Amino acid sequence: MKIGILGGGQLAQMLAQAGESLDMQFAFVAPEQDACAAPYGKHLMYPYLDPKAKEELENWADIVTYEFESIPVPLVEALEQVKPVHPSSQALTLASDRLNEKNMFNQQGIETAKFATVDSLQDLQIAVEKVGLPAILKTRRDGYDGKGQVVLRDQSQLEAAWESLSPVACILESMVNFKREVSIVASRNVDGDIAYYPLAENYHREGILRLSLSLQNDPKQKEAEEIIRKVMEKVGYVGTMAVELFDLGDKFAANELSPRVHNSGHWSMDGAIASQFKNHLLAIANQPLQDTSLQNATAMVNLIGAIPDKDLVAEIPNAVLYDYGKEPKPGRKVGHINISADGDNDEDFIPNVIKVLDMVGQQELIGELLKSSFYK
Ligand SMILES: Nc1ncnc2c1ncn2[C@@H]1O[C@H](COP(=O)(O)OP(=O)(O)O)[C@@H](O)[C@H]1O
Ligand SMILES: [Mg+2]
Repeated sequence: MKIGILGGGQLAQMLAQAGESLDMQFAFVAPEQDACAAPYGKHLMYPYLDPKAKEELENWADIVTYEFESIPVPLVEALEQVKPVHPSSQALTLASDRLNEKNMFNQQGIETAKFATVDSLQDLQIAVEKVGLPAILKTRRDGYDGKGQVVLRDQSQLEAAWESLSPVACILESMVNFKREVSIVASRNVDGDIAYYPLAENYHREGILRLSLSLQNDPKQKEAEEIIRKVMEKVGYVGTMAVELFDLGDKFAANELSPRVHNSGHWSMDGAIASQFKNHLLAIANQPLQDTSLQNATAMVNLIGAIPDKDLVAEIPNAVLYDYGKEPKPGRKVGHINISADGDNDEDFIPNVIKVLDMVGQQELIGELLKSSFYK
């Protein structure tokens, strides 16, 4: 089966790796010469809106999917006329705009931070009255890894914040005082079967995910599954999706959804029988979904800006390094390391995770790890 992917980054790369055992071939539409997925299939190097991109993909692929939410919706809509495209353009439209996303969550009875739309400095002043301070001003579209966001703590910061993001449409969100951040990843196939992954507990620094911990039998697993099920069923979603959640103690508030495989699901490559990538491919090909349950507790540490010494990582038992082959740049995700426990009573497991955090300069997260619901 031939799978066309819009986007050629690490998510496309890991989808293609997962597809090898499913007898799938891949083509990637990616304008970048150095797209890191390119060695895993056919690289259609065109700007997304170049008519050749659509034409060549449509001639080649049986099914089309995408790996990030800033893909132009018109391209997905046009492909949908001629090929099965999963997730749909409807899901993409929803997930590519923070305002649509939040309205949808609220319509489904799912809580979010308080929010207001901002299209001018005057709107921002009104929004602050509604939402309160501290708050976060975010661009509605194209934000990732904390980009396109400004934290507001007092009135004097409004003008500079608006200047730094304007003139694009924005949203102001109240700053949520969460107990922890988790995400739920699930895959839904064309028949409507859903497979849920165990919750991941997530730690960000400078707006970038640093550490994800797979949780076994978390008391809030079912509550999170209900949230993602509602969202998936509302849009007839097909593929893997992630919903980021703020745990407020007595309830969840939804942060955002990703209509794709997600960084907080990378632990599943080593911690679950079937990874989020494999289940995404099975879902879009309408095949039975495979086992998502946790095999061994797994921690995922992102490699931001640099790959550590591979020989040192190799000395850590049950640590697997994924190098995306990207040119290292500050703040850029260039790989990740999954560290798994060897059975339920592996006393070296937490020390191994600590070694990796230490190696990548994230010592500050060691304290978080020891306080987390993962470390019990
Ligand atoms: N309203 C909020 N209250 C508290 N923290 C927030 C809020 N919005 C974002 N954050 C923090 O910033 C991180 C990145 O923000 P997010 O909206 O998920 O953007 P991105 O698209 O870059 O992932 C979140 O995971 C969370 O840690
Ligand atoms: Mg996010």
